[in-house]
Amino acid sequence: MIETKLNIETIRKDFPILSRKVNGYPLVYLDNAATSQTPKQVIDVIVDYYSRYNANIHRGIHSLSQEATDAFENSRSTIQKHLNAKYPHEVIFTSGTTHSINIVANGFSSILKKGDEILVSAMEHHSNIVPWQMLCERTGAILKVIPMNHQGELLLSSFEVLLSSRTKLVVCNHVSNALGTINPIKQIIDLSHQFGAAILIDGAQAAPHLTVDIQELEADFYTLSGHKICGPTGIGVLYGKEAWLNKLPPYQGGGEMISEVTFEKTTYADLPHKFEAGTPNIAGGIALGAAIDYINGFGLHYIAAYEHELLSYATKKLSAIEGLEIYGQASEKTSVISFNIKGIHPYDIGSILDKLGIAVRTGHHCAQPIMDYYNISGTIRASFCFYNTLDEVDRLVEGVLKAKSMLS
Ligand SMILES: Cc1ncc(COP(=O)(O)O)c(C=O)c1O
Repeated sequence: MIETKLNIETIRKDFPILSRKVNGYPLVYLDNAATSQTPKQVIDVIVDYYSRYNANIHRGIHSLSQEATDAFENSRSTIQKHLNAKYPHEVIFTSGTTHSINIVANGFSSILKKGDEILVSAMEHHSNIVPWQMLCERTGAILKVIPMNHQGELLLSSFEVLLSSRTKLVVCNHVSNALGTINPIKQIIDLSHQFGAAILIDGAQAAPHLTVDIQELEADFYTLSGHKICGPTGIGVLYGKEAWLNKLPPYQGGGEMISEVTFEKTTYADLPHKFEAGTPNIAGGIALGAAIDYINGFGLHYIAAYEHELLSYATKKLSAIEGLEIYGQASEKTSVISFNIKGIHPYDIGSILDKLGIAVRTGHHCAQPIMDYYNISGTIRASFCFYNTLDEVDRLVEGVLKAKSMLS
């Protein structure tokens, strides 16, 4: 029994999917780091949008368009307040973290010069590696890696050695999707700024679990994905400091992002529209605001405390299984456990767990450099959300034991 202010049984009723069966068993959904589930409060907002006021935004004089515009812009303000960003126009709606990072990487094409350096942490998701490699190819900039240790913690002393006047950009996740490590991003941001480098924090895995105060952090860019924070897929956020967003060129050209267009010259719209070309994911944007309201209704600190208890319990139980190795034992972690059982392929365990109705992730988790570091091809990853329970952890542990006995 975990002592918590959250009423988990009531919360679970908000998530229709949690009552379904998979392969004849009640679903145990432990793939939250990939995509979290959606409460009916958020589903209802999407249904309401399409049922009552589906219309294009920012352009129509008619009532439906006004209603949709208001709801979309209110959601932007909700996100601004949630992140404690200074202005709503620093919140750009994107399709997700990948899109957000690519906007910044594209923008830096006109800023970086040959020989400039970008520092990237060793524990990034591919979406925070590949866009920077592409940027380096375009500009002649050099990508350098901030190393990590076996615990899955970044080596800040090595980071300090790598920083120099050549460093123009530092990119790092707030929380590692493969290991669960919570990185000391305030320290990383401050050090980067001491060297005049801009810093982008990939917050995809942090936003669902941790309170983010963007003004206190002073990050130049921060990203998140709606589908990891109880919102829909296809919507996310790029936060950028006003000065940076004004400095970067637009990513895509098209409708909505212009001030004036002639065949001779086009001038661009002000923020945030400069980065929101074309018709956005309106329902998704509105629903993301609803998802954030939903989570804030419980309080992220209560959510984090409860999930921490789930993590401790699961870590203890899984560690007791002979031959089981956990990757990533950082002192600060979110509720992610990556593990393998000696001599057994993660895919085989994942398949047996699925037959038992337990959804986990297997593979490299879009973080192949981490797998290379541990000299493995992949892991089994169980990632918990605030609607998971100790009973579900027990089912995972039983499932792993069963898989182990079948496959050994
Ligand atoms: C740390 C991290 N960064 C970036 C991404 C990419 O997010 P999306 O696929 O929503 O763009 C993910 C998704 O798993 C992630 O975990």
